[in-house]
Amino acid sequence: MDPSHAQRLIKELSDKINLYNDEYYQIGGDSIDDDEYDILLEQLILLETQFPQFLTSRSPSQRVGGKPIENLEAVKHTHPMLSLSNLYSRSDLDNWINSVISRLIESEILFGCEVKIDGIAISLIYENGLLKQAITRGNGEVGDDVTQNVKTIRSLPLELGEPLDLELRGEIFLPRNRFELINRQRDKEGLPAFKNPRNAAAGTIRIKDVKSVAQRGLDILLYDIVAGQISQGHAENLDYMSSLALPVNSFRANCKSSEEIFAFCNQWEKKQSDLPFDIDGVVIKVDNLEQRNSLGVTAKSPRWATAWKFKAEKAKSRLIDIENSIGRTGTLTPVANLEPVELAGTEVKRATLHNYDQIARLGIHDHDTLFVEKGGDIIPKIVGIDFTQRKEDAEPILPPVNCPVCGSLLSRLAQEIDLHCDNLACAAIIEGSLEHFISKKAMDIQSFGSAIIKLFNKKGLVKELPDIYTLHEKKDILLQLEGMGDKSVDNLLKAIETSKVRPLNNFIFALGIRHIGEKAAKTIADQTGSIRQFLNLTEKDLDSVPDFGPIMISSLLSWLRNTDHSEMLEKLVSLGMNPTPMEISEHLPFANLRIVITGTLSHPRETWKNRLESLGFQISSSVSGKTSYLLVGKDAGSKLAKAVKLDIPVLSEAEMEALINDQTQ
Ligand code: IVH
Repeated sequence: MDPSHAQRLIKELSDKINLYNDEYYQIGGDSIDDDEYDILLEQLILLETQFPQFLTSRSPSQRVGGKPIENLEAVKHTHPMLSLSNLYSRSDLDNWINSVISRLIESEILFGCEVKIDGIAISLIYENGLLKQAITRGNGEVGDDVTQNVKTIRSLPLELGEPLDLELRGEIFLPRNRFELINRQRDKEGLPAFKNPRNAAAGTIRIKDVKSVAQRGLDILLYDIVAGQISQGHAENLDYMSSLALPVNSFRANCKSSEEIFAFCNQWEKKQSDLPFDIDGVVIKVDNLEQRNSLGVTAKSPRWATAWKFKAEKAKSRLIDIENSIGRTGTLTPVANLEPVELAGTEVKRATLHNYDQIARLGIHDHDTLFVEKGGDIIPKIVGIDFTQRKEDAEPILPPVNCPVCGSLLSRLAQEIDLHCDNLACAAIIEGSLEHFISKKAMDIQSFGSAIIKLFNKKGLVKELPDIYTLHEKKDILLQLEGMGDKSVDNLLKAIETSKVRPLNNFIFALGIRHIGEKAAKTIADQTGSIRQFLNLTEKDLDSVPDFGPIMISSLLSWLRNTDHSEMLEKLVSLGMNPTPMEISEHLPFANLRIVITGTLSHPRETWKNRLESLGFQISSSVSGKTSYLLVGKDAGSKLAKAVKLDIPVLSEAEMEALINDQTQ
């Protein structure tokens, strides 16, 4: 690469990283994925190493973290908060262990292994037994004072039993069930969802309103003591912290060999979903504090600790082209076609790019070499570009103007990032919307399967939704189709007839309007009562509907204003579509949600049962995949374990109260 090209790339990368740093630290935003960020930084470091003449002290590669948010008080850490080096393989691990052994006199070394919680690091200062200050990591030297917010964490004692001076380190996180609740709430309010619990925790800790922070339900686990230790052994110090009723990371083990450490890492890599919070690896630490001292630290990380990362595997592949597909709501999704590459044991040829904003944000040019990542069963995704492989004359990839299926002009609604095909006659939209219409949660026309509806569409029997209700006139043609006997045709026509009186909420959901999911459909059905009133909805009517955000309102109104849609609804009515108003129970905020109660509660169980039933919950006695929530009291046993295993939200009584308040206010 010639130096002027490198210089330009270094500037581009630095600007991008600086922009993300500002967004992340000052707005608490989450516009970039961690992996994407790491790749930008790695690329910058690589180029700066190759072309040191362009490395400046202002480069974002020159600091460990970001700058602290401006409107919180910046505090200098008494002991810097370092980061950790990473290990990705067994040989990395062996090399690290050998480097530790080679620097110490002792050959038998005890290592503490702990799950690495994927949250945000915090430093806590207890003075005279009182929680005095909580400071975020910031740039490692200076962090933000977030004491008031940290005090909302209920598991953290504000006062210790003894008048001790301690400085502790730990991780603040959002349990997955809280994260899901928060995102559901944000969705209702038309706010963008947090990408993951870590981003949500990072955003929450910087909120200025303590009451809102408390509602989010942050939690904490401590993993280190940097002042006020009672022992030279890390494990003993952690036990001491537990004895002071401090919440300590208890998912740990003492290991003596590479085999034992490796087994611990593998065990948690497999079991990570059993925990109620996200972990992204295992931290391996020398237990003995004297040994830690003699090992010391490098510029950025201690030599006495390292992180085994559950890293999604990454590979590089050249972009062949971008394929655009249209979903049932008309949303366009770009997919990258790649030169085949082996990744996590499978061959990858395609990877999702979500939307053209992501393509622009990553800055993908044609025939770029891309980093593809895949973890567990996650669909491969593009997380970065190898800029060093970019051709000088490569052009940026621009969004298409026309629908790839029907050729009509694509549109983009205000506040939305997706491109959209608005042509109701577009084959991709028709096929997708027919499939959605007949599905279980929508019109539930059993006997119809997606294969049959696709066949009918292909044969020209069903070109739009109302055609379903004229199929009885075409019985002769249906009987001639392969696999359609008398009985199956009769069953199908009967099921179609029955669907005419499906509840109104199912009918509205079946229409497949963007942003109108099952819950929103219920709210509208409740508000309108009939297709006619639904058709006449105005902005004014919707403004006053609880739980209806601006994105939902604008999506629904633009759907209704499209005359093709209103004509289709009229046609359906004339063909006998007459949805029943929702049943009373359907109106309730938690209608049809299953809940299980376990443990000893602070109110009699009957009181909780009656209250929950009056809100629409169905109380069941055992936890299964169909359970929506588990309400837990003290001393919960196997039901709690099962719910955690099945990733079912577990709520304390207070959290249940908060959820009820959220949904009923
Ligand atoms: S020990 C010198 N132990 O991982 C740093 N860190 O880069 C010593 N983390 O954000 C850190 N769980 O907050 C340690 N059990 C654990 C941890 C842990 C999560 C975080 C830490 C920091 C990152 C390390």
